Amino acid sequence: MKRLAIFGSGAGSNAENICVYFNNSSDIKVVIMCTNRKDALIVERAKKLKVPMVFTSNSDLKKFDDLEKILVKHKVDYIILAGFLLKIPSKMINQYPNKIINIHPSLLPKYGGKGMYGENVYRAVLENKETESGISVHFVNQNYDEGKIIFQESFSLSPDENLESLTAKIHELEQSLFPKIIEKTLFSL
Ligand code: GAR
Repeated sequence: MKRLAIFGSGAGSNAENICVYFNNSSDIKVVIMCTNRKDALIVERAKKLKVPMVFTSNSDLKKFDDLEKILVKHKVDYIILAGFLLKIPSKMINQYPNKIINIHPSLLPKYGGKGMYGENVYRAVLENKETESGISVHFVNQNYDEGKIIFQESFSLSPDENLESLTAKIHELEQSLFPKIIEKTLFSL
């Protein structure tokens, strides 16, 4: 059984979708969630799904001391970042080499880096009149959105694409593909 922790700072729609996808799996289980924001919707989702939720501050994350103990206690094998907005410290990356996976709502390396998350990404894509966009799933390294890419899926942007339509397209792709990519990746490692 491969044991996952999901880290998120926002709505938690991916976190919930991943939990539900693996609910009846005998190979993969979401054993814990972690957030830096007590008021984020992901907290409510974890409660509903009966998955233990851990809070971390930026400074606790940087130390990666108490959090490491919690991950070890829950025997976490892989960490999934689903809209987690804090930078992952080197200590944690070294502890989980090629075992931390992030999803990003653009075709990296385009529109990645510090401050590029959620709506900021969509706005930049639209402002630059891109003709295509998509999602990227990648291993996490020391730099924001720069680790080895595992998977990308692209789509064309229509001439009248707007924030709402682009958000919906990304959301739909993430919901249908992210759990399957996690599954495939974990079994090819
Ligand atoms: C997702 O769209 C994810 O791709 C994005 O945050 C959203 C989280 O939504 N991640 C980033 O922008 C990372 N730089 P959710 O909380 O509803 O899953």
